[in-house]
Amino acid sequence: LLLRGRLLSFHRAPESLADTASYLYEEDGGLLIEDGRIAKAGPYAAVKAAAAAEVTEVDHRPHLILPGLIDTHVHFPQMQVIASYAANLLEWLNTYTFPEECRFVETAHAERIATHFYDEFLRQGTTTAVAYCSVHKSSADAFFAEAMRRNMLMVGGKVMMDRHAPQGLLDTPQLGYDETRAVIEQWHGKGRNHVAITPRFAITSTPEQMRAAQALAEEYPDLHIQTHLSENQEEIRFTCELYPDATDYTDIYARHGLLGKKTLLGHAIHLSEREADVLAETGSVAVHCPTSNLFLGSGLFPLKALARREKPVRIGVATDIGGGSSYSMFKTLDEAYKIQQLLGERLDPLESFYRMTRGNAEALSLVDRIGTLEEGTDADLVVLNAAATPAMRLRMETVSTLPEELFLLQTLGDDRAVVETYVAGQAGKSTLVAPSQRE
Ligand code: GUN
Ligand code: FE
Repeated sequence: LLLRGRLLSFHRAPESLADTASYLYEEDGGLLIEDGRIAKAGPYAAVKAAAAAEVTEVDHRPHLILPGLIDTHVHFPQMQVIASYAANLLEWLNTYTFPEECRFVETAHAERIATHFYDEFLRQGTTTAVAYCSVHKSSADAFFAEAMRRNMLMVGGKVMMDRHAPQGLLDTPQLGYDETRAVIEQWHGKGRNHVAITPRFAITSTPEQMRAAQALAEEYPDLHIQTHLSENQEEIRFTCELYPDATDYTDIYARHGLLGKKTLLGHAIHLSEREADVLAETGSVAVHCPTSNLFLGSGLFPLKALARREKPVRIGVATDIGGGSSYSMFKTLDEAYKIQQLLGERLDPLESFYRMTRGNAEALSLVDRIGTLEEGTDADLVVLNAAATPAMRLRMETVSTLPEELFLLQTLGDDRAVVETYVAGQAGKSTLVAPSQRE
């Protein structure tokens, strides 16, 4: 398969809008895909010359071709929680989220939602997501089986939680350990699946369960670990009461050996300097969930301040569906931009597009596979049209630079701007089956 269009891929984090050396931009670009991987990327004429004479060609001009978008924190069982009217995190969890997650004890429900989950991500141009399943092993089975069917690179885990939630959502230290182990043995490395060790957060895990998570982390040191950290003041207070020996919230995870380069910490909004140092020193990733942090009134994540520390904190960006209020990574970075505005900081559009592609791949330590258009990596791609709606088309008339076009996509764009999504070289958006035809 040979794609023609305007290629954009980042080599590293851009330092400013003038940092043209941080990315590849090919106005008339070609992308040769063989066996689901990028075989060659560059000027169309050169790539065409290297391709077989009978190669299938798709001309996406004048649209942009980027690496598929990546979402580093999302809750698979919360598709029917999005848009729940709650005052704050703990009320939202107890009133809407925990009851909904209880329904995932039914395999048929988990399988139905899994179908919608992947459909929606492809519609939004997101080709990789890092997901929490529910406490039920069968929810992880449904999640990973559907990822394999679609050949998508997904990271996910059975949630471990053994207190402070309804009975139907509780495992035990032993059961959480055994079932997580079973999910790893059954799914990790199958297809493109990655299993993450997933203690939900310190409130819902006893110290015994934290030690079980620690045992798993020691047994499987290459796996991702995901949990939540310092999202809401009331949550932080309650957490520190539950773990009185810990110095602070971050120290709870540190003491249980859960920090490191493969650890993803959702939210991490209200960190002390000491905690930010610990994240930086361990290489742990703070995952910014802007729409969720605004929707639940959790707080303003200091993205720019954390990134430019003497000891920088690694950062991912994510939707946090269903606390988050949009599946779109454009909307996510649009809200991230506004949060930085309120903090007196600038988040430029080159950095935003870096963060939703290569930046998130780096946060996952998966940049050798996804997040760029580099040769040999997986052909997960998104094709974008910055003139997708009448209002966007009108505004495009006055746009003259690439950063302006990206900023327009981020500010006004949504799934309508996603012309096509490719998963391992296969068209994934245009081939979606309408739900009405399926059910
Ligand atoms: N903290 C613990 N669980 C959750 C969750 O499901 N969503 C959010 N936003 N925060 C959490
Ligand atoms: Fe979350």
